[in-house]
Amino acid sequence: MALISLKSLGVSMSAPLFSNLDLTIGAGDRLGIVAANGRGKSTLLRCLTGELEPTSGDITRTRGLRVGHVEQSVPDRLLDRTFHRVVADALPPEQADSELWRVDVVLDSLDVAEAMRDRPMRALSGGWQRLALIARAWVTDPDVLLLDEPTNHLDLGKISQLETWLNALPREAPVVIASHDRAFLDATTNRTLFLRPEQSTVFALPYSRARQALDEADASTARKFERDMKVAQQLRRQAAKLNNIGINSGSDLLTVKTRQLKERAEKLEDAAVAAHRERSAGAIRLANRGTHAKVLITFEDAAIETPDGTLLFRTGKRHICQDDRIVLLGRNGVGKSRLIAMIRNAIVEPGSVANVKVTPSTVLGYADQGLSGIGADDTPLAMISRRFDVGEQRARSLLAGAGVAIEMQERAIGLLSGGQRARLMMLALRLANPNFYLLDEPTNHLDIDGQEALEAELLEHQASCVLASHDRSFIRAVASRFWLIDRRRLVEVDDPEEFFRQVAETGG
Ligand SMILES: Nc1ncnc2c1ncn2[C@@H]1O[C@H](COP(=O)(O)OP(=O)(O)OP(=O)(O)O)[C@@H](O)[C@H]1O
Ligand SMILES: [Mg+2]
Repeated sequence: MALISLKSLGVSMSAPLFSNLDLTIGAGDRLGIVAANGRGKSTLLRCLTGELEPTSGDITRTRGLRVGHVEQSVPDRLLDRTFHRVVADALPPEQADSELWRVDVVLDSLDVAEAMRDRPMRALSGGWQRLALIARAWVTDPDVLLLDEPTNHLDLGKISQLETWLNALPREAPVVIASHDRAFLDATTNRTLFLRPEQSTVFALPYSRARQALDEADASTARKFERDMKVAQQLRRQAAKLNNIGINSGSDLLTVKTRQLKERAEKLEDAAVAAHRERSAGAIRLANRGTHAKVLITFEDAAIETPDGTLLFRTGKRHICQDDRIVLLGRNGVGKSRLIAMIRNAIVEPGSVANVKVTPSTVLGYADQGLSGIGADDTPLAMISRRFDVGEQRARSLLAGAGVAIEMQERAIGLLSGGQRARLMMLALRLANPNFYLLDEPTNHLDIDGQEALEAELLEHQASCVLASHDRSFIRAVASRFWLIDRRRLVEVDDPEEFFRQVAETGG
């Protein structure tokens, strides 16, 4: 039975994001939504909840349908509440006291440790924040669950735990997932929607097989288009020939024939559908100003602590040298982000962090998990013009090249899609022309092209960097050194495979 039906649904911003979308979502559906950054995945999910009015077409929901929606980023207003509160507050007021047990049931099903439940969201790692949002949606006992990029910030163990959790949900509750994570989509979906401006396509297949079917369909559209255009061209040639003979001989019949041929050619040309061309979501480029220093940062057994002063681990004695690309490995919450924050403080305020020495010529390029360097109320143009001396015209063309369209450049950054914000951050990093990059989960929100572009840039510029990432293919592609944080110690390991294996086996 269809719980939600879309008929000729379309949303246009300055151009159509999608149009003429016909789709039903019903029992047993596990639907993946796939498209590049900024193409309208989150927008479509907001239409499904009813939060956003589509530009055209209709949505029908069965009466009283409860929709659970896990948004792409954590809403600011939740950050000061505890994990438990965030979930409990989602219960309708009449259940708030009597059904509080539901909260514990959901938290248990997601393996949330007791100690975690009373911590404020602000103090939780990105992965735990994500799980809090998922629990918050599930506790309301929704008939349909919508997940917007659920694997962002999750470590491998948590991703496989989430896969298991999703696959164990009652089959009749449909789940809709917008994601760039191919393996996750394959493990959790049975239908795939490729969202496109003109003609979106749905396949009753999980991602990889749907992708193949889509490529075949695109190739056959392209062949048919070529064939039709060729036939039209031949008809036009014949028409020209006949026209010439007709004029010479003064034959009316030939003039009529000529017109008919032209009309047939026109009809074919009008009906011919060009194959879909994927526009790029913007270029990702980095810079590296280089340095003469061999050693950029030295740790003398520095202590990494939580904000309230609890020791997470010690670094031991280590160096970060020029050309090192170090990836931090460790489960959600071991302190990777804290280490990154500490390195940042040591660079920004030299001498402020005990037992960390920074070479003075170090110029930092920094992006944290929440992209907190870019304010949601600022505009892209104002931010770039204020921070970098590039002039308005240049700023505009840089922004357009990075995927921020002209019409979005003077609007609030908060209106950009998650991936567009991440790309804006990358542009700011490149303009800072650093010689050392400090990036926390840089592939979150980026579409597949974007992830590959970032890999290629880090390698090409031989950027020295420290990265925290859970993305296996990204880690394998870029890292030259691996620091594993485990059992309150930081150790250097030769490769990440053993860690990947352990996490996959034992969960987060
Ligand atoms: N007022 C506006 N005028 C024009 N375009 C807008 C406006 N507000 C939002 N947009 C654009 O609408 C699109 C919304 O995209 P949405 O957030 O749905 O993308 P997405 O597919 O979820 O992308 P991502 O993968 O980055 O999360 C973006 O391209 C954004 O720039
Ligand atoms: Mg989105």
